[in-house]
Amino acid sequence: MSARYNEIHARSLADPEVFWAEAAEAIHWERRWDRVLDDSRAPFYRWFAGGATNTCYNALDRHVEGGRADQLALIYDSPITGVVERFTYRELRDRVARVAGVLAEAGVEKGDRVLVYMPMVPEAVIAMLACARLGAVHSVVFGGFAASELAVRIDDATPKVVLSASCGIEPNRIVPYKPLLDEAIDIAAHKPGRCVILQRPQEVADLVEGRDLDWMAAEASAEPQPCTWVEATDPLYILYTSGTTGQPKGIVRDNGGHLVALNWSMKNIYGVEPGEVYWAASDVGWVVGHSYIVYGPLIHGNTTVLFEGKPVGTPDAAVYWRVIAEHDVRVLFTAPTAFRAIKREDPTGELIRPEQIAGLRALFLAGERADPDTVQWAEDRLGVPVIDHWWQTETGWSICANPAGIELMPIKHGSPTKPVPGWDVRVLDEAQHEVAAGEIGALVARLPLPPGSFPTLWQAEERYREAYLEEFPGYYKTGDAGYIDEDGYVYVMTRTDDVINVAGHRLSTGQMEEVLAAHPDVAECAVVGVADELKGQTPLGLLVLNAGVERDHGAIQGEAVRLVREQIGPVASFKTAIVVGRLPKTRSGKILRGTVQKIADSEAYTVPPTIDDPAILPEIAEALRSAGYAGG
Ligand code: COA
Ligand code: AMP
Repeated sequence: MSARYNEIHARSLADPEVFWAEAAEAIHWERRWDRVLDDSRAPFYRWFAGGATNTCYNALDRHVEGGRADQLALIYDSPITGVVERFTYRELRDRVARVAGVLAEAGVEKGDRVLVYMPMVPEAVIAMLACARLGAVHSVVFGGFAASELAVRIDDATPKVVLSASCGIEPNRIVPYKPLLDEAIDIAAHKPGRCVILQRPQEVADLVEGRDLDWMAAEASAEPQPCTWVEATDPLYILYTSGTTGQPKGIVRDNGGHLVALNWSMKNIYGVEPGEVYWAASDVGWVVGHSYIVYGPLIHGNTTVLFEGKPVGTPDAAVYWRVIAEHDVRVLFTAPTAFRAIKREDPTGELIRPEQIAGLRALFLAGERADPDTVQWAEDRLGVPVIDHWWQTETGWSICANPAGIELMPIKHGSPTKPVPGWDVRVLDEAQHEVAAGEIGALVARLPLPPGSFPTLWQAEERYREAYLEEFPGYYKTGDAGYIDEDGYVYVMTRTDDVINVAGHRLSTGQMEEVLAAHPDVAECAVVGVADELKGQTPLGLLVLNAGVERDHGAIQGEAVRLVREQIGPVASFKTAIVVGRLPKTRSGKILRGTVQKIADSEAYTVPPTIDDPAILPEIAEALRSAGYAGG
């Protein structure tokens, strides 16, 4: 077993230039590269330097010209609105070319940024590809973020144009995007010159005279645009993700390396052939949506499914099986939390009709740790390999996986299997030494990272170096901790920073603390991620009030919850804040967040030797117990 994987993985590390040059043959290059790997500025590496290409050309035009014009490129399935729409490669190319025309008329040129704030509608995909067509850099912002988060991204990316919609639709409410966008532009120092608004019938937005355009009217009269050739190393997009502080990290993706890596991954990791239907049930606002709803499947000539719904409640826990049957889905990719939601509603799997999923070959999971119970449940009910794979916004595609298109290795629950070709994963201790098999340490990847992974942070090269390259020279620090077993299987256990993972969404507890600390009655606070049966983790805030504050604690707690929702967004799922007398700290003043989390989760813990006053721990346990946490 694993001979074929071993051979290919070894080859990818022994001579990465030969390996990735071979993979690059599947891509259209308007001009070939000078160097496959440019290491002249190591530890900053660039792939396919000197090459010229266009991502939209490779995702659409190439297939239209190459015989796939009438094949379906995109199926939009929206149980939340009751709409199903299908687009061939030709239809999608034509709409993208027109929307590129709208952008061009607004003055967008190669290198300009365009912010995309859209729900899961076809126009979101069209928006991204239209930017790529012009060589403009898109920055997609997830709909669940609040106006101030949108404003931070507007100020950092300084977009010339914003592409948005009147509203998103959640099962329990309409989310009016346009007022959020208006508020964000008010808050932001940078003012985009033009907003193009897709009016949805569920909620029609007011347009600002002179700034806003109606999307459909503008598209109808726009001049279709051809593809603009860009350097392989030019940025395709910026995607912001949570870091340690309130200032999100602008992950940059280039064009050339991204094209090569994603195209390669479709066959080798997911095992799909061009023409087959591939469904990533995620959101275009996350990296999974960028790579595997939009770019990967289209670059590879697949049909992609864009699903505007939830795994449960739209209308029920059988919707995934209906979509798989109706559109002939071969491979499904989602987050474990979606399966936990389905399992909760349909524990015995009686809604899964075998004939509906007969064509499904594999389920891929990522975004958070895949708990063995959920994996087992899915294996038993679906009867196909359930493949956990590990990746990050930074990497753009998986670091570890069971590469179904190379060979399916035996699955070990709790492990995303082995490093993908191109990735040299190690576990290091604090002194930067490799640890023995089975020992936990920092998960790092030896440089250079393969194509597709981020070359830098948007206008923050120094932060890139500090955050990812400094602590372990010669390696990329993933921010995850874990171990590698005797058989070379990697286990990803926990983050080493302030990032938590809530329903597959990456959030910063440090950022939530910044928001809570701004409450006038709060002297200090701590946010920890506590275990949640559905979402994996949810945030819990502890508040210490200023001396002399005599207001009702319940009112302050409610205000704290509202503040996080208003300033970060509903996606933070911040529902509980508890007032406590004091916080446990080390003698040097560091808050013992890990200990608080363990108490809340009833996990065994040792009293840290550096603790300032151990008597605080029973107080915290009592406060957590009375708030409904185990506190044991
Ligand atoms: N626009 C506006 N609000 C949004 C939103 C969007 N695009 N997406 C989520 N929200 C809101 C939700 O309505 C919810 O608001 P509420 O507090 O008023 O209920 C809040 O943000 C939290 O959303 P979520 O964490 O998704 O929880 P949920 O209870 O609505 O749904 C699941 C739980 C498991 C069904 C859901 O998380 C899910 O479908 N996950 C699938 C996996 C996934 O998409 N992962 C992404 C990475 S692969
Ligand atoms: P994001 O950047 O939003 O994709 O989140 C990346 C983080 O999610 C990683 O650093 C991990 O902490 C976690 N993660 C993603 N996939 C997995 C997985 N398969 N197993 C464990 N953790 C994962």
